[in-house]
Amino acid sequence: MDEVKDLAAQPLKKRIFSGIQPSGIITLGNYIGAIKNWVELQRDYECLYCVVDLHAITVRQEPAELRRRTFEAIALYVACGIDPEKSTIFVQSHVPAHAELAWVLGCYTGFGELSRMTQFKDKSQKHSDNINSGLFTYPVLMASDILLYQANLVPVGIDQKQHIELTRDVALRFNSVYGDVFTIPEPYIKETGMKINSLTDPTKKMSKSDPNPSSYIAVIENRDDTIRKIKRAVTDSDSVIKHAPGKDGINNLMSIYSCFTGKSFEEIEKEFAGKGYGDFKAAVGETCADGLENVRSEYARLIKDKAYIESIMKSGAEKAFYMSRKTLSKVYKKVGFYHV
Ligand code: TYM
Repeated sequence: MDEVKDLAAQPLKKRIFSGIQPSGIITLGNYIGAIKNWVELQRDYECLYCVVDLHAITVRQEPAELRRRTFEAIALYVACGIDPEKSTIFVQSHVPAHAELAWVLGCYTGFGELSRMTQFKDKSQKHSDNINSGLFTYPVLMASDILLYQANLVPVGIDQKQHIELTRDVALRFNSVYGDVFTIPEPYIKETGMKINSLTDPTKKMSKSDPNPSSYIAVIENRDDTIRKIKRAVTDSDSVIKHAPGKDGINNLMSIYSCFTGKSFEEIEKEFAGKGYGDFKAAVGETCADGLENVRSEYARLIKDKAYIESIMKSGAEKAFYMSRKTLSKVYKKVGFYHV
């Protein structure tokens, strides 16, 4: 392990790690809350973007579907503008150090800390027939993902904030015992778009595991479906386009519109002053479909190029492997594992 290349040492740029579970079709929420920001951050950071398949099996998956979704997610990352020449794109299960570090960090994470995770509480309610220990220790695996690469910044939606706080706590605890082993990561969460809500119940997060396809926009669905779903999105009974407490449906559509146009809520209110929900929804639908047009055509091209997508997976896994080994061997040494 000593001759492992020193890729993790002193990166020239600050480092970013983030990932998406291949547990469903990737939605507009994933795009706005995560991928869109990942693309922008590539310019100034050294980025690792992962498809976190180990996380996905905390909920029962159909094997062939999981395999297909993993492949599609890599193609989608590239279609969205993640540049495999600039960023490391890889599949979590191709790099064994994630699971290995998770075991070690699990021994430095409290049962009580994990019990407080709201996502665990939500998911164990939703999947009450399968409350497995992976679901419970999931945040430890997520901490390992981030800490393995000494990431400075983790761009995510607001729902992941608690997991990043736990990651920081575990890293600080480990460092306080063994010295500066881990970089302490910061969440990167943009105010607008940090939580895109369901189109059928705008009090809830838009989710790729929602059984009702009308509740979400899939990044790769066709233009007409996007426009139709936004047209039918649940809104409140008054008809003023204004960002205000209690107007969850309109607030949500305004956030989507703002993320694609760069306009503030005030500017949007002015633009639609005197107009009704019909006009506004039509504009949001068109803008959203236009904003995803390039991604959709790129995806259609890339998904047919199996050799290219697999070559990205392979070279990404190779790079991630070396970087991850550097941290893992340091951790093993610190905790006292015998090395020959
Ligand atoms: P996942 O797969 O649920 O979601 C992937 C990313 O998309 C964001 N997101 C949203 N943002 C805004 N509005 C929404 N409706 C919405 N839905 C999802 C999520 O916040 C996330 O950034 N545990 C993570 C995956 C993960 C990870 C990591 C992330 C595993 N290891 C390490 C960062 C770093 C998850 O389940 O994300």
